[in-house]
Amino acid sequence: MIQALILAAALSTAPAFTVEHPSATHPGEEEVEAYVQADANAGTRPFAGDAMLKAFHGQAGIGRVVDEVVDRSLADPRTAEIFHSQDMVRLRRTLREQFCYILDGGCRYSGRDMKAAHKDLGLQNADFNALVENLQLAMDHEKIGFRDQNRFLAKLAPMQRQTVER
Ligand code: HEM
Repeated sequence: MIQALILAAALSTAPAFTVEHPSATHPGEEEVEAYVQADANAGTRPFAGDAMLKAFHGQAGIGRVVDEVVDRSLADPRTAEIFHSQDMVRLRRTLREQFCYILDGGCRYSGRDMKAAHKDLGLQNADFNALVENLQLAMDHEKIGFRDQNRFLAKLAPMQRQTVER
């Protein structure tokens, strides 16, 4: 807490950033170490224009896709163990923000950067591939067109390097 206050004071000249203290602002979530919030933490620049947001059926559609990919990841024997011991309330919120930000849906991303968020998980390339498969199934279910699915996946693909160890 004291560290967070010192960091907040140090950053007070840069109003675009805030210091996360999630237990205070987001009930039901576990506390994480203080970090600097920035949209840049989302790991990529957003699409321009409203075509991608429309393709995902707005914020409601994004919410459905995020919930389905999280539910599938929890149920999938390849990835269940990775997800079960973590904070799924926070993950659903921050993943929704991240997807909405990237799809230019009018959201800010308040989560950690991809390297910090995954640093203790020991993820492998196979885990990444399983997650992408589950995301594709969720996007199919939401009836998002193949071309738009691929556009979105192309934004996420370079994040493999930041999330997996090998
Ligand atoms: C493009 C690939 C990925 C993206 C965009 C992504 C996105 C995110 C985001 C936004 C968070 C939350 C950040 C925060 O809490 O501040 C997160 C955390 C997490 N991710 Fe990923 N992720 C990716 C790959 C993966 C993979 C491959 C797995 C495992 C199969 C995974 C499992 C998790 C878990 C378990 C957490 C929660 C960690 C914690 O609570 O400490 N992620 N991810």
